[in-house]
Amino acid sequence: MTLRTIVSYPDPVLAATAERVEVFDEELRQLADDMAETMYAAPGVGLAANQVGVLKRIIVVDVTDDQTGLLKLVNPEIAWTSETLADHEEGCLSLKGLYEHVKRPDEVIVKAQSVTGEPIEIKAEGLLAVCLQHEIDHLNGIVFIDHLSRLKKDRACTKLKKLRRREHED
Ligand code: NI
Repeated sequence: MTLRTIVSYPDPVLAATAERVEVFDEELRQLADDMAETMYAAPGVGLAANQVGVLKRIIVVDVTDDQTGLLKLVNPEIAWTSETLADHEEGCLSLKGLYEHVKRPDEVIVKAQSVTGEPIEIKAEGLLAVCLQHEIDHLNGIVFIDHLSRLKKDRACTKLKKLRRREHED
């Protein structure tokens, strides 16, 4: 397994749409393993292929307080969302140090495939539901601050620039 480099916002690859995976080969399984290792090393609870510069529809998620453990999902799609929304503070490995509240459906059903092409269906709520929606957004070129109002997004970007400047000074 190899650690991959995580790209930082606003790299254009984060605004690009990832392509559907058609071939379930060793290269795909290698990518999924590398992504999991990169996520754990960061450390983080989710990572999308865009974030390591690969435009393939694959995400890895491990919400440690959940019983599902490590999920490697290929071609994940939101099949259903609850009408009830929940507000969670989100962060992202491509926008390190920035945390903002985002409202999303509280529960989701995600349909995906395993790294060997087997169908997977997951019903999720709470942190896992947030994480799945956040990572699937990445595959569609969306980052979490895109869910904020124009004003809040501008403020978040300013905050991020300050955080990065501080990091360089240390
Ligand atoms: Ni993210």
